[in-house]
Amino acid sequence: MIDAEHGEAAMRDMASRLLAQRDSGDVRPAVGRAVAPPVSQRGQRHKFADHPLVAAACELNARRRAIWELTGMPSPLFLERKGYNSAVLQAQGQELTNFAGYNYLGLAHHPKVVRAVQDAVAQFGASASNSRITSGEIELYPRLEQRLARIYDVEAAIIATSGFLTNAGVLGYLLGEGDAAICDSLIHASVVAGARWAGARVMTFRHNDPESLRGILRASRDRFYRVLVVIEGLYSMDGDIGLLPEIAAVAREFDCGVMVDEAHSIGVLGAHGHGVREHFGLPGDAVDIWMGSLSKALGSCGGFIAGNANLIEALNTAPAMLLTVGFPPTAAAAALTALEVLESEPERVRRLWQNTELFTSALRDRDLDLGMSQNTPICPVLIPSVARVVFASSLLLQRGVYVGPVTAPAVAPGQERLRFFITSEHSEGQLTAAAELVAEVVEIARKLDPTIPV
Ligand SMILES: Cc1ncc(COP(=O)(O)O)c(C=O)c1O
Repeated sequence: MIDAEHGEAAMRDMASRLLAQRDSGDVRPAVGRAVAPPVSQRGQRHKFADHPLVAAACELNARRRAIWELTGMPSPLFLERKGYNSAVLQAQGQELTNFAGYNYLGLAHHPKVVRAVQDAVAQFGASASNSRITSGEIELYPRLEQRLARIYDVEAAIIATSGFLTNAGVLGYLLGEGDAAICDSLIHASVVAGARWAGARVMTFRHNDPESLRGILRASRDRFYRVLVVIEGLYSMDGDIGLLPEIAAVAREFDCGVMVDEAHSIGVLGAHGHGVREHFGLPGDAVDIWMGSLSKALGSCGGFIAGNANLIEALNTAPAMLLTVGFPPTAAAAALTALEVLESEPERVRRLWQNTELFTSALRDRDLDLGMSQNTPICPVLIPSVARVVFASSLLLQRGVYVGPVTAPAVAPGQERLRFFITSEHSEGQLTAAAELVAEVVEIARKLDPTIPV
């Protein structure tokens, strides 16, 4: 139980300080996208340190720092931790119950993973020290790639140094002018970045709605040569599962390729953690491009693509794969060992889902708004208003629970939320106590003036 009186007093105190500061003119409204400088400033355009976007970002950060100082509340942003990012996190001299890390299965600090990383650094050094094509190649890469290909029931796979760059680099390579990426409206920014990089047209269909996709394709399929329909396996902000069978069927009707971003679903969905393909019982060729991240359930870093052998061979020469250093040997060892542990310790996936059931039903019993979540390990608690969600995250942190506040641009304005990542490592006691605390804090936060300039 938190001391509700103290919580409300803290909230009122924070609110009045911020409102007073706004009224005195010290707090400026949130800064939007910069506009071109006035003609009088032309000739200064070679300077980037005072580029309007740079100035706006620095101003926003300074204002946020000032807010934490002014209110005396702890900031949940850039919180420095000691030790592992798991169910318990050490920061600011205390032990926090942590819901801010996507180490879903505890593999990032599993003893076998840690040992494999230590062996890899001893054997191969800290860096690949060149692209794979010239001297960067080590035996860990193909072993990891073959394992990923087997999981997806496809011919081949390729790893890349970042999940974001995997999406951006693959779409940037495969699409071009005259092509289109038609994406779920909640698709990750890295997919959009890649399509823009390619000069392809980007369109979105209503979230998880095959009929909306059908409407767009009926109206516009003939205007493009290649069209790639892109969805996520498990939506990273909302915790609902991509309707892959129905969406892929519509895409095929209109001769479109299908790509699935499995960043949050590999290791999580399916009885063996093999992702959305296993969840729906689909063959590997139901999708043309399986993309995933190694940085979430697999406890490492980097991304991968799995699919047809020719496609993968060609991707070896895509700029984002070729004109960059090879994968860090330590990250390859971590991901490969994580996949081995996923197979040898299937109880981790079971525990993850038991914990998910416990926590989400405890939140629902307390009438919290979990939005579109389908009771998966990504559990949003909607608290529309930046002020309320930031305050709730801050008060929870003060009371020993760490969860990130999510605001625009990561979600649409009015869709602000706390995003809880549930892991196999949380204990029943931690989940039950946290659910009770969250309900109390959300109730307090709901009374907060939503116009406070946070
Ligand atoms: C859906 C989705 N795709 C891609 C990425 C990028 O992956 P990474 O963080 O491994 O670069 C993320 C990151 O959170 C994500 O949520």
